[in-house]
Amino acid sequence: MKVLGIETSCDETAAAIVEDGHNLLGSSIASSVDIHALYGGVIPEIAARSHIESIIPVIEDVFSQSKLGWEDIDAIAVTYGPGLLGGLLIGVLAARTLAIAKNKPLYAVNHVEAHVYANFLVKPLPQFPLLSLIVSGGHTQLVIFKNHFDYQLLGQTKDDAMGEAYDKVAKVLGLPYPGGPNISKTAMTGDANAFELPKAKLDNPYDFSFSGLKTATLRTAQKAVGADFRLSSTELPALLTDRQKADIAASFQKVAIETVVSKTIQAYKEFKPKTVVIAGGVAASQELRQALKEKLPIDINYAPPHLCTDNGAMVAALGCYKAMLKQPTADPYSLEAIPNLKM
Ligand code: KG4
Ligand code: ZN
Repeated sequence: MKVLGIETSCDETAAAIVEDGHNLLGSSIASSVDIHALYGGVIPEIAARSHIESIIPVIEDVFSQSKLGWEDIDAIAVTYGPGLLGGLLIGVLAARTLAIAKNKPLYAVNHVEAHVYANFLVKPLPQFPLLSLIVSGGHTQLVIFKNHFDYQLLGQTKDDAMGEAYDKVAKVLGLPYPGGPNISKTAMTGDANAFELPKAKLDNPYDFSFSGLKTATLRTAQKAVGADFRLSSTELPALLTDRQKADIAASFQKVAIETVVSKTIQAYKEFKPKTVVIAGGVAASQELRQALKEKLPIDINYAPPHLCTDNGAMVAALGCYKAMLKQPTADPYSLEAIPNLKM
């Protein structure tokens, strides 16, 4: 079973071919992140335009990498949500057109669910029940999978996603977008105990909240320079010393990571899964990986960072399982993009 996966939900135009849900045969990603970095965040119109330019080249690139032709492809899978409408439309329209022109079954894939399936591209394969911590720029969720397509959402963020908090704190410190890797680099020379930042307390122990932490981090930065609240986003970082930036980044990162790790451990104890995985862009964080490894009583197998951030391979992997397990196909004449699609 060979599936072509297409992903265009944010600022990466990506395609990949996966065999049997775990064997990656080719993967191509064109990112418009360098342009967005100039603006400090993703600009949807620029992302959409760049998807139009890149979609055909990335698909051609995976065929040439894998030395396969259309006759080798059994199905097409595409992210139809959640994400930015302009980007989703381009991926969905490309997939619909190809499904009709090449006469292939089409599978509609949820982007967040696909992040989890990046872990099926790594050996040993995850076993069910599978506990998954999904931490990206748009999502923060704990999900328990009893089997493929049979899962329960344990909790999710009530406000900002974890990656979003990283990106916003990075802005406070004047670090470029995307914030995650830059916070992590800056934090390396900092003292994680320099500032005491709050952890949110919520009724459901598996829910998350990062907006209080984000605001407390901003107030800490303002206090550190002895300034009032009226400093602009360019004035504040200019007043912070490198030492202060490193200490603030390290203190923020410590609390953010402790929060998700402790909830994951609590869910592990309650649901006793055979496998624990982490998924989404923030799963690329070495500090998060290390912290979870230290606390979990079982071995944890991490997907490489390039499969944690947005990519086509995770979409193709989930598409393979949909095809192999005879899940319903999508109608190539009517499939629509759903920007606020839920899991
Ligand atoms: O999954 P993803 O590529 O896109 C979404 O679906 O949102 O995740 C992007 C998020 C950004 O917020 C980025 O700052 C964060 O993942 N991120 C990281 C790292 N790499 C990306 N956060 C922490 N450490 C990293 N190494
Ligand atoms: Zn994502």
